[in-house]
Amino acid sequence: MQVITTGKEMQAFSRKIRTEGKSIGFVPTMGALHEGHLSIVSRSVEENDITLVSIFINPTQFGPNEDFNKYPKDHKGDMEKLLSLNVDAVFLPDVAEMYPQGYSTFVYVGGIGGILCGASRPDHFNGVATVVTKLFNTVMPDRAYFGQKDYQQTVVISKMVRELCFDIDIVVCPVVREADGLAMSSRNAYLNEEERKAASILSKALEYGKELIMSGREQQTSLIKSKITALIQSEPLASIDYVEIVGPQYLEVVKEVKTPAVIVLAVKIGNTRLIDNIIVESN
Ligand code: PAF
Repeated sequence: MQVITTGKEMQAFSRKIRTEGKSIGFVPTMGALHEGHLSIVSRSVEENDITLVSIFINPTQFGPNEDFNKYPKDHKGDMEKLLSLNVDAVFLPDVAEMYPQGYSTFVYVGGIGGILCGASRPDHFNGVATVVTKLFNTVMPDRAYFGQKDYQQTVVISKMVRELCFDIDIVVCPVVREADGLAMSSRNAYLNEEERKAASILSKALEYGKELIMSGREQQTSLIKSKITALIQSEPLASIDYVEIVGPQYLEVVKEVKTPAVIVLAVKIGNTRLIDNIIVESN
């Protein structure tokens, strides 16, 4: 497994692979890899000749009072996991490589970048779109893989790829969950024992919402949302950022739920903000 730290070397590596006629699958990450990441990486390994993983904690997607400085890191563990999955190369740039002094070019995500997570994290999706653009131009993949856990991120990136004409297929991989339903996330490491138990309320609330929609008993978005909200509020450690029911492609809020729809939520458990979602489709 090759470890590459500069953009120039990364481009040279990818250019060589492409001239050999081989396909490149790319999995961008911020490290602290868990089973969710590993299932995405395995999918890329299955579907491509070469798989490349980037590990970069991107400062531009964190707000001033967010967790950039304490974001979990596990360099040794990450390398061992990627090696065991037969990953071909890891791109490990540092902040100065990605954002050299005087850096000032950003991708701006209008519309859907400012709702849901974008409402409470104002520059978050601009930071994500900027770093993903830079990574795409550096790695030059055929396919790029993202987890459905960050549902809004997958919609923002798919739209950016269409609108900025990247010749890259975006593949969205299912959420991987712990036994009690909690979606795997690097930020779960912040939870203490009591919070970890409380955090299962997110997936319970999503399942409950899905059941309400599928049963056909409720169709009014506001009613379904208030039932989901009440369930989350029954957990004393939980405080809701948002609960919404949106269309899968444009994230539009509708008055009456029609399937397919996605229930998306962000909830703080103690000081840790967690996100999750569930796609509701009729059979
Ligand atoms: O989902 C993540 O881990 C990050 O947002 C990403 C896509 C690697 C960009 O920094």
